[in-house]
Amino acid sequence: MRTDYHLLTEQVRQLAQTEGWYASLFANVSALLMDTLEDLNWAGFYILINGQLTVGPFQGKPACIHIAPGKGVCGTALEQDEILVVPDVHAFPGHIACDSASRSEIVLPLHRGGAAAAVLDIDSPRLSRFSEEDREGLAGIVKLLEDHVVWE
Ligand code: SME
Repeated sequence: MRTDYHLLTEQVRQLAQTEGWYASLFANVSALLMDTLEDLNWAGFYILINGQLTVGPFQGKPACIHIAPGKGVCGTALEQDEILVVPDVHAFPGHIACDSASRSEIVLPLHRGGAAAAVLDIDSPRLSRFSEEDREGLAGIVKLLEDHVVWE
């Protein structure tokens, strides 16, 4: 089933307008994504702290705590400051397998003061789960989060 990104974006806007503090907002957005998008096994955030991506609010199995910039899909997306859609994680050199169920993944950088400072990472047990429509819809949601998040 296709995701109604118009509705999802409005739900994220409501959450962001109610509370911008990153822990509350990212926790609820992780829960909303997990509840709304089909075929996910992990959805959450890694935040750059002291030069390391550090696991933040998420839904799914316990995950790797630290990822260095440039490592894995998350660290590569951060370093290149690009949205990465990986149709088959086994074909991505250096992919970090936190949950062996993951088959495909999308990672979107989140900016703070103009620089990539966190990522939204979403994993699926289905190959090629993430379409161009997902990429665009999620990019809009990340933009909304960037505009509302309170980091302190
Ligand atoms: N697969 C990611 C690591 C994070 S987990 O998927 C939650 C990566 O290669 O960066």
